[in-house]
Amino acid sequence: MHRSPSSNLFTPFLQQAPLQRPRYRALFNYLQQRILSGELAVDSRLPSTRELAEWLSLSRNTVKQVYEMLQAEGYIETRQGDGSYISAQLTPHRRQQHSRQQPSRQPIRLSTKSTQLQQIRPLYQHNREHLLLPGIPALDQFPWPAWQRSVSHAGRQMKFSQAQHLMGEPALRNEIAGYLSATRGVHCSMEQIMICSGSQQGMQLAFAMLINSGDKVLVEDPGFPGIDGAISNAGGIKVSMPIDRQGCRSDLMLTDQRDARLAFITPSRNFPLGYTLSIERRLQLLQWATDHGSCIIEDDYDSEFRFDGPPLTALQGLSDGHSVIYSGTFSRILHPAIRLAYLVLPVTLVEPFKQMRGFLDGGLASLPQLALADFMSRGYFASHLRRMRKLYQARRTYLRQRVAQCLPDQLQWEPSDGGMHSVFLLPQGSDDQAIVEHAMKLGLGIRPLSYYYDQQAPLAGLVIGFAGYDEAQINQGIERLTTTMARYHSPNTA
Ligand SMILES: Cc1ncc(COP(=O)(O)O)c(C=O)c1O
Repeated sequence: MHRSPSSNLFTPFLQQAPLQRPRYRALFNYLQQRILSGELAVDSRLPSTRELAEWLSLSRNTVKQVYEMLQAEGYIETRQGDGSYISAQLTPHRRQQHSRQQPSRQPIRLSTKSTQLQQIRPLYQHNREHLLLPGIPALDQFPWPAWQRSVSHAGRQMKFSQAQHLMGEPALRNEIAGYLSATRGVHCSMEQIMICSGSQQGMQLAFAMLINSGDKVLVEDPGFPGIDGAISNAGGIKVSMPIDRQGCRSDLMLTDQRDARLAFITPSRNFPLGYTLSIERRLQLLQWATDHGSCIIEDDYDSEFRFDGPPLTALQGLSDGHSVIYSGTFSRILHPAIRLAYLVLPVTLVEPFKQMRGFLDGGLASLPQLALADFMSRGYFASHLRRMRKLYQARRTYLRQRVAQCLPDQLQWEPSDGGMHSVFLLPQGSDDQAIVEHAMKLGLGIRPLSYYYDQQAPLAGLVIGFAGYDEAQINQGIERLTTTMARYHSPNTA
């Protein structure tokens, strides 16, 4: 015998507040839940569409539409000339499997890789309200009208760009190749350039392609923590290279760690200390890579902003072209939200990387790439960089002056030839993490230098961003830092 539900079953639906829209979706969800929970038993008959429409003051078409959806998804079946019934396919076991309210649900298990990821040092999350964040460009100086013109131009160009470009839009790769050879001494053709969504993606790809589980990866210590995830993901083992004022101590490591598969370095300006790798060590590294068939990833994250002369020649430009992957990003020099970066690959790696890219994401969206290509080809990029170089230099000078005036005995500027942040050393034994914790509470985005160390004994210091802040903001930031330092030194208030 088939029981039909009474109109009471629909009282909660009528009482739903606020009314969920659209109504057909609300009724569908309501009936679906009643069916899955068993309130509407298998084989029970639903009210006719006319009846239900009347009970719920809905149009008959709305109810018909809902019954059709329920039927299409297998919840009900219609019997010719008889009506709609809860589907017999929905056995209690199946219902339980589908019920969202099932309390004893087993949690989804994470892979070993993702469990390992949770064990590496966490990255700082930027709070954009904070002052003196490192790595933030002067966003108020960004040439928005020119960018908007380029975006609009790109919108029109898109109709000519229907091919899937795994390596990136040819127009952008062409601009980058020209720019790199003119300003950074990189030897490459546009065919070697792969566009990525940020250099982090490039690193993930490069490590996945070049590292086997258990392979050694040489990294600078202190260095950029953002690569830890890519190394861990590929199963690589980090081997730390200490840093001195000549850059990373490749001389030490290359005798002990000859069998390393890869070295990840920031030769133009070590991150975060800002030291430049000496020519002697550059040549040593290149020799090591050639002798052992190893690879060097050169992360050139902000060399555009060298204040004491033109940008230095990239390590890639010194090499024979076979052992260095050069990585550059627009996030730091243009705008963090642009999420465009690139790898310059040795010719032999182009095809394997391209193949992998097909599996990874099938390439990037055309519009921002075409916009950036237009922005570069009209000279906006180069003129923006020229302006920013001058501006950042002035901001760095101002920051140094203010620190020297307000905190002469506590902070010592660590010389570097450019960049977007400065490192100031604290007296030996200071707890830079405790200072930064205080500073963050006052709205400062500075970072402790010790955070960037891995296995080497850390120096205590503060990494202070200046590029994105005008004089008034730098002043405000240094006032807050002065308050922090006073508190830090006073045990009563610390
Ligand atoms: C040294 C260094 N390399 C690479 C990156 C990553 O750049 P992207 O934002 O393009 O992923 C950053 C970002 O701050 C960085 O500081």
